[in-house]
Amino acid sequence: MCGLPGAGKTTYAMGLVRRGFARLSIDEVVWQRLGQRDPGLVLGPEAFDHLKEEVRREQRQELVELMLARCDAVVDYSFWSRAARDDYKALIEGHGCRWELVHLKADRTTLERRLEARSAVEGANAVTVDATLFNRYLVQFEEPDGEGEQVVMQSST
Ligand SMILES: Nc1ncnc2c1ncn2[C@@H]1O[C@H](COP(=O)(O)OP(=O)(O)OP(=O)(O)O)[C@@H](O)[C@H]1O
Ligand SMILES: [Mg+2]
Repeated sequence: MCGLPGAGKTTYAMGLVRRGFARLSIDEVVWQRLGQRDPGLVLGPEAFDHLKEEVRREQRQELVELMLARCDAVVDYSFWSRAARDDYKALIEGHGCRWELVHLKADRTTLERRLEARSAVEGANAVTVDATLFNRYLVQFEEPDGEGEQVVMQSST
């Protein structure tokens, strides 16, 4: 998956899970370990980044194991950096498997409206994304362009 917060990556990934895919999600594991909707506030930014990186490394290995077992898998991350996308593509190709890069896109108003509505929900996949964090992600996001991506445009609902 690839896309900004609120773009619908988890929703899309859950559709694949219903078709038998294994899903790898950092948010899910952070929630299991901390049970917090605002893990960044509880841990502080450095400890939070450290935990996310630790989980990402564990799940990178899980992805390898899934590939060795020839299981379908969806990696439910934002994949905001091209370097991360290139890294996973190389990993997947190195195991003789095939990747699909699904970029979910929606306009800013739609994303903000969805995140606002989601903030009323409790759970692993409803991590709070406030305006400050959203803006940070927006600035950082390196939109895939000519990387073999499949763009799924979301309607403004
Ligand atoms: N196609 C859709 N149409 C309408 N609403 C949607 C659609 N996809 C997702 N949503 C809603 O938008 C909100 C955000 O979706 P979701 O949590 O899947 O995004 P995400 O990309 O996983 O976000 P994050 O990066 O924060 O994990 C959810 O409340 C979800 O129910
Ligand atoms: Mg999500």
